[in-house]
Amino acid sequence: MQTAAAPVDRYEETIYHEKLGPDGPLVVIENFNLWYGQAQALYDVTLNLQKGLVTALIGPSGCGKSTLLRSLNRMNDLIDGLRVAGGVRFDGQDIFARDLDVIGLRKRMGMVFQKPNPFPMSIAENVTYPLKVDGVRDRSLLEAIMEKALRGAALWDEVKDRLKESALGLSGGQQQRLCIARAIAADPDVLLMDEPCSALDPVATAKIEELMEELSGRYTIVIVTHNMQQAARVSHNTAFMYLGRLIEYGETLKIFTTPKGDRTKEYVTGRFG
Ligand SMILES: Nc1ncnc2c1ncn2[C@@H]1O[C@H](COP(=O)(O)OP(=O)(O)O)[C@@H](O)[C@H]1O
Ligand SMILES: [Mg+2]
Repeated sequence: MQTAAAPVDRYEETIYHEKLGPDGPLVVIENFNLWYGQAQALYDVTLNLQKGLVTALIGPSGCGKSTLLRSLNRMNDLIDGLRVAGGVRFDGQDIFARDLDVIGLRKRMGMVFQKPNPFPMSIAENVTYPLKVDGVRDRSLLEAIMEKALRGAALWDEVKDRLKESALGLSGGQQQRLCIARAIAADPDVLLMDEPCSALDPVATAKIEELMEELSGRYTIVIVTHNMQQAARVSHNTAFMYLGRLIEYGETLKIFTTPKGDRTKEYVTGRFG
């Protein structure tokens, strides 16, 4: 029902007070809409991803979290009938510009998926493969980058004596850290993580969460998670989505302790989802 007060309530509910990073936003999403064929999956999503901070995307299944995440590095491009409106700027550049180098964009925005997906190669080759594809041939350079990436992903000590063994022999948690190492070997600015711990046990999950804390600052991280405790633990800012809309976005502590909207309140306290 439209009353005089309604617009004000709505405004109060969606007012955004995200925690600001020292360098401001790296990704600016403005009135972003997305359709899969006739079905609209995202409606007027507007939010800034602060450089060097961790942003969590939460909300019930099907609300558009993965769709939004995959839009950021244009992983959705291959889907037939996909259409977008509104904008996403990354480091000031329109990511949907005609002349944009999509491969270059994906290099700057690494992705880690729900299920660890190491290549059927050795541990070392998993990390160096993308560099080799890129034409890096210098052995000592490849080795240096590999070690740095494995150290960065908190995996080096566990694998340094078995670098030539198959990556498929690693535990799930190790495989996921290997995928993170592979992503950071390309020296990205952003890490997009879609429920990276949902296939892992609590110990492996704790390691990834610890790692995310170490990686923030150097990288701008976006994590989709179903796990409220995880969002509360790892992120600086949290965006709550519902039915394709961004309902509330703000400093994580505030979203979890004093959410503005009823819907957000119900979700973060576990009353629906
Ligand atoms: N490739 C696709 N083709 C058509 N519809 C899709 C596709 N991927 C997701 N959707 C639809 O878009 C909506 C949002 O999905 P998704 O982004 O996967 O949500 P979430 O990650 O929050 O669970 C859902 O209704 C889903 O069915
Ligand atoms: Mg999803």
